[in-house]
Amino acid sequence: MSNSISSPLERAVELCKADMALVDACIHHNLQSDIMMIPAIGHYIVNSGGKRFRPLLCLLTARLFGYHGERHIPLSVVVEFIHTASLLHDDVVDSSDQRRGSPSANGVWGNQASVLVGDYLFSRAFQMMVSDGDMAMLKLMSDVTNALAEGEVLQLSRTFHLEMTEAECLEVIERKTAVLFKAASEVGAHAADQSAETVATMAEYGMCLGVAFQLMDDALDYLVEAEQAGKPVGHDLEEGKITLPLIHAMQRDAVLAAKVEEISERGCYEEGDREWVRERVTAQDGTGFAMDRAKDYAERAKRLLPETAEVEVRKLLAELADFSAHRPY
Ligand code: IPE
Ligand code: IPE
Ligand code: MG
Ligand code: MG
Repeated sequence: MSNSISSPLERAVELCKADMALVDACIHHNLQSDIMMIPAIGHYIVNSGGKRFRPLLCLLTARLFGYHGERHIPLSVVVEFIHTASLLHDDVVDSSDQRRGSPSANGVWGNQASVLVGDYLFSRAFQMMVSDGDMAMLKLMSDVTNALAEGEVLQLSRTFHLEMTEAECLEVIERKTAVLFKAASEVGAHAADQSAETVATMAEYGMCLGVAFQLMDDALDYLVEAEQAGKPVGHDLEEGKITLPLIHAMQRDAVLAAKVEEISERGCYEEGDREWVRERVTAQDGTGFAMDRAKDYAERAKRLLPETAEVEVRKLLAELADFSAHRPY
């Protein structure tokens, strides 16, 4: 393994290189359709440079328990398809014109095409699970997909909900994001035929890692520039999302709270609002607070990892939990 490979995500890709090649082939195979717009949009988004974090988690948890079968390949693709479908829909809902450093699919083909191809990916994921033929897996993934949809609707119903509490915020995060990380870890352990207790522990690991990941995403929205994020930044408040960095900063800064109320009544930013709010949220350490919470979740995730013979994989899973709470993008 080369020393120049520094990020745990890159090291995970390196360790799972052979499996990832199979995952990519399986992705492309399952994007085939005689309706040309489906492979066109599908390839556009899957080739646009996503981190592939969720399929990697699935591969690594299977490997953690010494799994030598083949089911983890299509199941990793199922998880990535559900993620990709949720991004296609999310960018429509969030009116986002950038994703992974390129124009978003809705920016190129329009909202209708993005929604419909998102539906295609969801349904293809379910066809793949039926082919896998394990009712327990189908239950797990259908529950997760349902929770994702609930999470997105819950978030929508909390648009510009200025009284949002930390607990409400965490509920949205668990449902809209963390459940898929939970599923990715759970699927690997389940495929490797682990006990119900071990599968549940790995599910909890994924859940905690996923919460850390989204808390960090919410902090990055106030911290980094669009080029680094590959998507619009300072955008959450504009879309009415009251996330933890903002909640914490508003509690400490009445002027900021008044400004957010004004933006909420207007329903959009005015010239200079975006930068003003971002500066205020970071100055009040709203971002630091959310990142500390993310670190707590990452620590919890790490403590859950079981001791196995696969010491290198365990170490990498611990580093991936840390990465979720420290990542720069
Ligand atoms: C973006 O997820 C959506 C969130 C849950 C914040 P990722 O940051 O994993 O997206 P890609 O796949 O790497 O682009
Ligand atoms: C995560 O929320 C979206 C999904 C779970 C699909 P965000 O809206 O924060 O994700 P980004 O920032 O657009 O990637
Ligand atoms: Mg979004
Ligand atoms: Mg975000």
